[in-house]
Amino acid sequence: MVFLLGQPVRAFHPSVYTPRVPPDQLEEIQEIESPFETTPERIEAGRQVFFGKGLCVTCHSKNGKGVRMPGHAPRNFTDAQWQDARTDGELMWILKNGSPGTGMPKRVGQGITEEEGWNVIQFIRTFRGQ
Ligand code: HEC
Repeated sequence: MVFLLGQPVRAFHPSVYTPRVPPDQLEEIQEIESPFETTPERIEAGRQVFFGKGLCVTCHSKNGKGVRMPGHAPRNFTDAQWQDARTDGELMWILKNGSPGTGMPKRVGQGITEEEGWNVIQFIRTFRGQ
C-alpha cells in the first residue's frame, strides 16, 4: 500500500518518474520539440495561462507543488529529477491527452490552444529547483 499525504492511494503508476506516455508511442513523443524558442514573453504568456484560463493553478497551486487531492497528486514541478525525466514533447502529450487514470485533464483543445500549451510548458520549466 502506498501512502501519499496521509491518504491510502491506489497507485495507477508506480512512481512520478514513470513515463505517462504509452510505451509504444514514447520514443516518438519524446523527440517532439516545441516550435517556439524560450523567451521571457512566452514564459509570461504561459504564466497567464497557468493562473488564468488554463485553470492549472486550481490543482497545481501557485508554487507549482500541487494541492492535496485523492489518487495521484498533481506533479511537484519544483522537482528537478522529474523535470529532467520529461521532455517537452511528453508534457505536450499530457496537455493533449490528460494523464489517463489520474485527475489530470485534457487541456489543449479544451480551453487552451496548442501555442498556449507550449507557452505554459515554458512557464512550468521555471518552477524547477525553486
Ligand atoms: C483538476 C486538476 C488539474 C488541473 C486543472 C490541471 N492538472 Fe495537471 N495534473 C493533475 C494531476 C492530478 C497530475 C498528476 C498526474 C499523474 O500522476 O500522471 C497532473 C500532472 C501534470 C503534469 C505532469 C505529467 C507528467 O508527465 O508527469 C503536467 C505537465 C501538468 N499536469 C500540467 C498542467 C497544466 C499546464 C494545466 C493547466 C493548463 C494543468 N496541468 C491542469 C491535475 C490537474
